[in-house]
Amino acid sequence: LTTLQLSNYKIEIASLDQICAGLNAWLRAKSWSKVFVLLDENTERDCLPLLERALWPEDRVLIKINSGEENKNIYTCQSIWQQMVSGGGDRHSLLVNLGGGVIGDMGGFAASTYMRGISFLNIPTTLLAQVDASVGGKLGVDFNGLKNMIGMFNDPVAVLLCPEFFYTLPEEQLRSGFAEVLKHALIKDESEFEFLEGQDPLQIPEWTEIVARSVAIKKEIVQEDPFEKGVRKILNFGHTLGHAVETESFKTSSPLMHGEAIGIGMLCESWISANTKRISNKTLDQIADAIKAAFPYCDIRGLAKDQIMGHMLHDKKNVSGSIRFSLLSGIGSCETDCQVQTELITESLEYYHSVYA
Ligand SMILES: NC(=O)c1ccc[n+]([C@@H]2O[C@H](COP(=O)([O-])OP(=O)(O)OC[C@H]3O[C@@H](n4cnc5c(N)ncnc54)[C@H](O)[C@@H]3O)[C@@H](O)[C@H]2O)c1
Ligand SMILES: [Zn+2]
Repeated sequence: LTTLQLSNYKIEIASLDQICAGLNAWLRAKSWSKVFVLLDENTERDCLPLLERALWPEDRVLIKINSGEENKNIYTCQSIWQQMVSGGGDRHSLLVNLGGGVIGDMGGFAASTYMRGISFLNIPTTLLAQVDASVGGKLGVDFNGLKNMIGMFNDPVAVLLCPEFFYTLPEEQLRSGFAEVLKHALIKDESEFEFLEGQDPLQIPEWTEIVARSVAIKKEIVQEDPFEKGVRKILNFGHTLGHAVETESFKTSSPLMHGEAIGIGMLCESWISANTKRISNKTLDQIADAIKAAFPYCDIRGLAKDQIMGHMLHDKKNVSGSIRFSLLSGIGSCETDCQVQTELITESLEYYHSVYA
């Protein structure tokens, strides 16, 4: 059992038995007037049965929503609030979020607004949700075609992490989440990168230590900068380009997974880091090998470069219209607010293909 203490809650990384015991303690810790569980069809089928040993109150209410980012919106929240009202939810109720990042972000938002805020507890069930969405307090929904447009910062009462949920996770989800694991090592922890180097996420037998170290890195960064004013921007490594490529791929018949796009983004931004003399070519090759081992080639030659540039220019993280990158200055260190010439950005996309050639 590993416990990470944040300012006002704990993250526990543990076996299923320990998670059930921890959950049981929380269910009994306060006299909750009602316990709600937010889940989708997949986590109801695959994850809820694993938590039966937690001995839920008999009158717990399941709130089921349809899975998928397309349902992360205010309409689904209305249905969640509605079910809390009809289930007798009051200010002393607890919402347990059981699912991936969609459930965590939206459930946290719905709980934080219901009657001016009720307690919620997160049990993230995807790799991405465990190592990334589980820390940092960002909650919300998509709106007007933009991701996470409506939301707030707020913390859960606790986060319980258990890699045993990954057994049922679709392989592409596991691979996708691994991009953030690599990112955390690349920006902050050289020895962790050396451990992960060459690993294919689908062949990793034991995740507990990897999840524990990855989430600890994110925790450290977030604690230094809870509201994303400075150092937290290093978490955007791979995301400036990666997110633009991801957005453009949505127009095609084969949209990229978030992690696939971030894999591409990390390769391109590492190349930019090398070409602006922040890292050596040898380091670049080492990073490229690690990303290649984890992510197969994605054919993105059909994506229009000017459109990709356009998405970057319109990124909501920009300040006064200029694109700022978080670039590596070594393995385990990262600089924020780097300005990069446009030509270098487009050239880096060529580099991506050459790595797999
Ligand atoms: N709050 C944050 O700091 C933060 C950080 C990163 C991402 N996010 C958000 O997270 C979301 C993406 O999260 P995600 O990648 O977890 O996707 P997701 O929540 O859509 O889950 C992916 C799929 O896996 C299924 N699933 C989940 N756990 C399963 C399990 N154990 N077994 C079988 N199937 C399972 C889900 O039903 C879903 O179909 C995005 O909306 C993103 O904005 C938030
Ligand atoms: Zn990401």
